[in-house]
Amino acid sequence: MRVAIVGSGGRLGAALARAYGGEHEVIGFTHADLDLAAADSIRENIQPLDFDTLINCAALTNVDYCETHEAEAMRINAEAVCELAEICAGKNARFIQISTDYVFDGEKATPYSEDDPAKAISIYGESKRLGEEEALAVSKRNLVARVAWVFGPDRPSFIDLILKRAQESEEVAAISDKMSAPTFTIDAAEWLRPFVTGEISDGGLLHLCNGGECSWRDYGQHAIDCALAAGWPIKGKSVGALALTDMKNFVARRPVYTVLSTEKLAGLTGQAPRNWQEAVDDYVRNYCKAQ
Ligand SMILES: NC(=O)c1ccc[n+]([C@@H]2O[C@H](COP(=O)([O-])OP(=O)(O)OC[C@H]3O[C@@H](n4cnc5c(N)ncnc54)[C@H](OP(=O)(O)O)[C@@H]3O)[C@@H](O)[C@H]2O)c1
Repeated sequence: MRVAIVGSGGRLGAALARAYGGEHEVIGFTHADLDLAAADSIRENIQPLDFDTLINCAALTNVDYCETHEAEAMRINAEAVCELAEICAGKNARFIQISTDYVFDGEKATPYSEDDPAKAISIYGESKRLGEEEALAVSKRNLVARVAWVFGPDRPSFIDLILKRAQESEEVAAISDKMSAPTFTIDAAEWLRPFVTGEISDGGLLHLCNGGECSWRDYGQHAIDCALAAGWPIKGKSVGALALTDMKNFVARRPVYTVLSTEKLAGLTGQAPRNWQEAVDDYVRNYCKAQ
């Protein structure tokens, strides 16, 4: 199979490219290769290409930047998605768009299913929601896979930052009143594999995250506990609690509760994702190094 990956230089895109590269021919596009802001760049790179599946992992992901750059966010996260989906449809290729838990308003107190209406409260969330709509409007075969709190070895994220901080200082704190369930990129590559190969042909929305739920504080504390268990020289052993309202530098509103239900994923693949704690443990033990 030939699999094209847009955003192959990012945290998720790089993990997917590596995971599928052994078995399939992967054609990766980094930001330097292809600029989603320019329709010409999309057309020139993708139109001449022959592939079975295209996965778009690229996005303008900085939530606060998007809040003050609406036109750019809409262009990259929505309009460009439509252009990619249309080229794929013309080639009879499957299009997989990666989306986010930020399409939800966070008002629920139980996990969001794929049937829950998306109602974003930020420009980033709305631009990604529109991207979802565009992808699904072009073809029912297309898949929109929502991920959350993504972590993995290809680009530092919250876990790496908190482990760095905990090695440097006794003072470590994280938000304790915002809940979700993280997505480990290495796991996401495996969950997505049958959809990429066509073994599972269902299109539509799909939630991809590890099991359970946590606050940023729980997430950080568990990463530190794993590092302590692995013998790391940690100074900040206990993560203090911050409130979302303490984050005065946040420009965009953040949804408070965005745990994604993985029942649909488990039903389609026959396997429930492992819990976030197990995935974080695997990541810290096998992919991270003490400073
Ligand atoms: N990170 C999270 O916690 C999270 C949570 C929920 C959903 N998601 C979604 O998951 C997907 C993958 O995110 P990630 O965590 O892998 O983020 P990432 O590491 O920031 O990857 C995004 C990639 O998109 C590229 N990009 C940005 N603007 C572009 C443009 N105009 N044209 C082409 N490429 C461009 C970036 O390149 P440069 O860095 O070189 O600009 C980067 O390689 C995205 O769709 C994101 O919305 C992420």
